[in-house]
Amino acid sequence: MLDHGTAPPAAAAPATEGKRPGNPLMRRKPVELLVAEGGKGEGGTLRRTLGMWQLTMISIGATLGTGIFVVLGEAVPEAGPAVTISFIIAGLTALFSALAYAELAGTIPVAGSSYSYAYATLGEFIAWICGWCLILEYGVSVAAVAVGWGQYLNEFLDGTIGVTIPDAIAAPPGDGGYFNLPALIVVVLAMVLLLGGARESARANTIMVCVKMAALVLFCVIGFLGFKSGNYSDFMPMGTAGVSGAASTLFFSYIGFDAASTAGEEAKNPKRDLPRAIMLSLVIVTALYVLVAVVAIGARPWKEFEGSEAALAGIMKDVTGQSFWATLLAACAVIAIASVVLTVLYGQTRILFAMSRDGLVPKTFAKVSTRTKTPVVNTVIVSLFCGVLAAAIPLGELANATSIGTLFAFALVNVAVVVLRYTRPEMHRTFRVPFGWVIPVLGFLSCGYLMWNLPGITWQYFGGWMAVGLVIYFGYGIRRSRLATATETASAEK
Ligand code: ALA
Repeated sequence: MLDHGTAPPAAAAPATEGKRPGNPLMRRKPVELLVAEGGKGEGGTLRRTLGMWQLTMISIGATLGTGIFVVLGEAVPEAGPAVTISFIIAGLTALFSALAYAELAGTIPVAGSSYSYAYATLGEFIAWICGWCLILEYGVSVAAVAVGWGQYLNEFLDGTIGVTIPDAIAAPPGDGGYFNLPALIVVVLAMVLLLGGARESARANTIMVCVKMAALVLFCVIGFLGFKSGNYSDFMPMGTAGVSGAASTLFFSYIGFDAASTAGEEAKNPKRDLPRAIMLSLVIVTALYVLVAVVAIGARPWKEFEGSEAALAGIMKDVTGQSFWATLLAACAVIAIASVVLTVLYGQTRILFAMSRDGLVPKTFAKVSTRTKTPVVNTVIVSLFCGVLAAAIPLGELANATSIGTLFAFALVNVAVVVLRYTRPEMHRTFRVPFGWVIPVLGFLSCGYLMWNLPGITWQYFGGWMAVGLVIYFGYGIRRSRLATATETASAEK
C-alpha cells in the first residue's frame, strides 16, 4: 500500500493542478506534493546522507567514462582537429541544459529528475515520455557502458597476464559469443554496492572518480610531451558539417551530468547543493574533455585516429614507447567505467522510484528497505534487467539511441523552466538561469540541433522505443496513475 499517511494526497493540491478528470494527459502533479513526498516510499523512507561533494562526484561519476576513453576514434575522423570545437559545442549544449536542471533541481529537489519536473509543468503524458527517455538514457546506457567495461578488462588482462576472456563468454549472441559475462559481473558488483546504501555507494564512487580524473590528467601530461603544433595546421578539413556531426557523436560523453538530480531525496541540503553539484561537475568534465582532445590531436595526426578503439592508450604508448602506460590506462578505464555503471544504475533506480510512487510503474519499485533505506527490490530488478540486456542482447543501434533520448529529455527540461517561471513565478528558487528565457530557448534549440544531426537509423530506433513507451502508458500508467486514482476516490466520496 502507498503510504498515504505520510504523503499528502493529491486531492490536497492547489485547485488548478493535479485533478483534471477531463484531460488525463495534461494532469499535473503539484510542486508542493512532489516535494512533500520527498524520500517517502512504500514501507520506508530514503535516508538523507549526501553532501555537495558526494553529489558532484555522482554527476562526474556518471559522465566521465566510456565516451572519452573511446569516442575520439569515432569523432576525430569526422571533424579533424576541429573536434576540439565539437567538444565545446556539445559542452555548451550540455551547459544550457545543466543551467535548466540546476534551476529545477533547486526548486523541485526530488528523485525523478526531469521526469518529475515535466510532471509538475507539462502534464502527465509528457512526463511519461520524459521518464521513458530517461530509461533509455540511464537503463540502456548502463548496459552499453557495461559492454565497454568488458573490452577494457580484456585489454588490461592482456597487458598484465597475457590472457583475454574468450569471445564465447565475452560477447552476446550475434556479436560472436553466447553471453557477455564481464558485462553482467560489473552490473552485479554495482548492484551489491547500491544495496549497501547510498552513502556507501557514494564513497566508493568518489574513490573511483578520483582515479579516473587522475588518469586523464596523466594522459594530458604524457601526451603533451609528444605535442606537435603542426598537427593543427589543417584545422577543419571536414568543414562545419563534420564539426557538428562530431558534436552529436560525442554528446554521449556528456550524458550523466544530470545524475545528481536523481539524488534529490537523499541529499542533505538538496535545494542548495543540487544546483551547485550539477554546474560544478559539468565545468570539471568539460574542461577535462577539451584538454584531453587538444592534447590527443597534438600528439597524433588526426588521420591516424580512424578505427582506433583505444586512442588514449595508443597515444600514451606511442609517446613513451612503453606498453606499460597503455595497460595502466586500461586499468583506470576499468575503474572509470565501473563508476559510470554504479552511478547511472543508481539514477535509474531513483527515477523508477519516483515514477512508481506516482503509480505510472508498479508499486514494487517504490518499496524501501527499513534496514538499508534503499529501494532493494527496485535495485535488484533494474540491475538484473540491465545486466541481462548487456550480457545477452547485441545493443547496436539501441545504444546509439541513448543520446537522442537524453537530448529529448534535456529539451523538455528547458521548456519546463520557462513554463514554471510563468505558472509559479512566486516560488522560491535557490538558483535561477540568468537572462530570463534566452538560455532555456538556446538550450532547447541546441538539443534539437544535435538530435537533427543524428543518423536516420538512430531516429528509427528512437521511434520504436517511443512506440513501446506509448503502449505501456496507455495500457497501464494512464489508469494506475496516482493522480487518476486520487481523482476517482475524490469523486466516489462526493
Ligand atoms: N557519459 C557516459 C560515458 O561516457 C555515459 O560513459
